[in-house]
Amino acid sequence: MDMDFIELDGVEKVFDVRRKAGFLRRERHEVRAVDGISFRVPRGEMVGYIGPNGAGKSTTIKMLTGILTPSGGRLRVAGIDPSRERTKLAHRIGVVFGQRTTLWWDLPLRDSYRLMHRMYRIPDRRYRENLDRCVELLDLGELLDVPVRQLSLGQRMRGDIAAALLHDPEVLYLDEPTIGLDVVSKAKVRGFLRDLNAERSTTVLLTTHDLTDIEQLCKRVMVIDHGRLVYDGDLAGLHEVGESERMLVVDLERELPPIELASEPSARVVKVEGPRQWLAFPAAASAAPLVARIAADYPLVDLSLREPDIEAVIAKMYVSDSRL
Ligand SMILES: Nc1ncnc2c1ncn2[C@@H]1O[C@H](COP(=O)(O)OP(=O)(O)OP(=O)(O)O)[C@@H](O)[C@H]1O
Ligand SMILES: [Mg+2]
Repeated sequence: MDMDFIELDGVEKVFDVRRKAGFLRRERHEVRAVDGISFRVPRGEMVGYIGPNGAGKSTTIKMLTGILTPSGGRLRVAGIDPSRERTKLAHRIGVVFGQRTTLWWDLPLRDSYRLMHRMYRIPDRRYRENLDRCVELLDLGELLDVPVRQLSLGQRMRGDIAAALLHDPEVLYLDEPTIGLDVVSKAKVRGFLRDLNAERSTTVLLTTHDLTDIEQLCKRVMVIDHGRLVYDGDLAGLHEVGESERMLVVDLERELPPIELASEPSARVVKVEGPRQWLAFPAAASAAPLVARIAADYPLVDLSLREPDIEAVIAKMYVSDSRL
């Protein structure tokens, strides 16, 4: 059972939607949000669950929590059928939806936590330990007495993550926990999740549009598109099938012709704008030889590296698919 801690077999979710099709007429049609998904997640694993907008990620997570009932297939979390035993499962899972809060809007964080303490009947000592730990590691000390509506997005997100963990869940579902956060807050959240997974073996399913989240946290990544699983493997493999590229942005001392890269055949200049040049190279490759080459031959002022975004990687997967 530990190898199959989360189990999905041909899971489907079909929404019946009505849309306007003329002055008074409404048309019914089906949206297959999740269209036959199967996977297993062993206990203690941290998995990325990514895909473009509307792919079916949040719908999957809602079925895993029991908020939504699947239209077909079989789904188990810790041996429990989520939609049938939602309350029983609630004691074993934690959920963070980055786009909305589970906290009470008008209450200070501290009061929201107290309510959860009672709702989940968390033993006092456990509650205090977990709260202290979250407050320390997520830097919540100064924020405990501030009403949630006054918190910034990054502060609220940290507050939400703590709320999801007070009852020691074995699984944590994170639906875009870093959305809209600045670099510092993102780093804080990532560091916290990494430690949580390492120290407590909490199983984590992470949805994100930020490939850096995956890079830093997940060995395994699943890609969903149009409700289907289109990739399940490591991130390097995803870059390979997606033929994804990273971009090196180079600032030279002055405007020059495109950088000559005869010794680095996999890289190419894709744009020149005054003294700034953009060079694309395979995402799986190291930037070091390229940077060394440029630094040796050109008057280099500054450089930065841009990671590929998920949408671009997935779009390329489809382009390469259609060539088959
Ligand atoms: N309650 C609902 N009723 C009808 N359609 C829905 C409902 N919830 C989701 N959908 C549709 O199901 C599809 C999948 O939505 P979902 O929210 O799971 O996508 P997502 O992968 O989380 O996207 P995003 O990256 O934008 O958050 C979309 O086409 C969406 O419009
Ligand atoms: Mg979503």
